[in-house]
Amino acid sequence: MNAGETQRAPWIVGVSGASGTPYAAAVLRALLGAGEAVDLVVSRASRLTLLDETGISFRDAHWQDDLRQWLAQGADGKPGTFDVDVSGVRYWAAGDLAAGPSSGSYPAKGMLIVPASTACVAGVALGLSKDLLQRAASVTLKERRSLVVAVRETPLDGRTLRHLVALDDAGATVVPASPAFYAGATHIQDLVDFVAGRVLDAAGVGHGLYRRWRGELGGGRPDR
Ligand SMILES: Cc1cc2nc3c(=O)[nH]c(=O)nc-3n(C[C@H](O)[C@H](O)[C@H](O)COP(=O)(O)O)c2cc1C
Repeated sequence: MNAGETQRAPWIVGVSGASGTPYAAAVLRALLGAGEAVDLVVSRASRLTLLDETGISFRDAHWQDDLRQWLAQGADGKPGTFDVDVSGVRYWAAGDLAAGPSSGSYPAKGMLIVPASTACVAGVALGLSKDLLQRAASVTLKERRSLVVAVRETPLDGRTLRHLVALDDAGATVVPASPAFYAGATHIQDLVDFVAGRVLDAAGVGHGLYRRWRGELGGGRPDR
């Protein structure tokens, strides 16, 4: 790097195998829209949820095409809803434990796990590092960087609740993927964007994904 050149410092986005791939798409679109660099890790299991929820087979060798198609899709499944430039994304295969985000010396702002499966929550809480996603999350915690975990499961059993407390104790922010209804949602995309917006709020990234509470009851009604 030459003097005066600024170092790329991405947000690492980990997509694990919980239901909720539209949440990940909304977070990725908003980060790229905000001009943030993104390093993307897609777990093996999340390829099943992606296929199930979007019809897209995500391939390491064709990640750019598959990502473009995924991010263009609305939460209602309609293709071509969004026009997204994915050139700010660097992709790492989930099995690549020699990848940049495996090391604390790799520059990163922090990490967002969206959605987070209970298996992923357990793995990160216990420091298992069974794949690059979990290793990058452990690194994020040990480097005291921002880690946001958007867990998606219901109901939650005691083991997962204890793992979530462990993550909170370690400095992570747990953001349950639970949309609120005070922001005037009229479409499924609004509910998805609310959760994505709260994930970005936790990371301190600016966005305009949802209408904030204005201290006025009735603001969530569609006619307001
Ligand atoms: C269609 C589908 C939906 C799933 N939804 C969830 C979910 O909402 N939450 C969850 O914790 N696990 C869910 N799972 C199970 C996880 O994919 C599984 O525990 C997996 O081992 C997670 O691995 P990962 O954390 O490495 O991605 C789902 C699996 C499939 C196939």
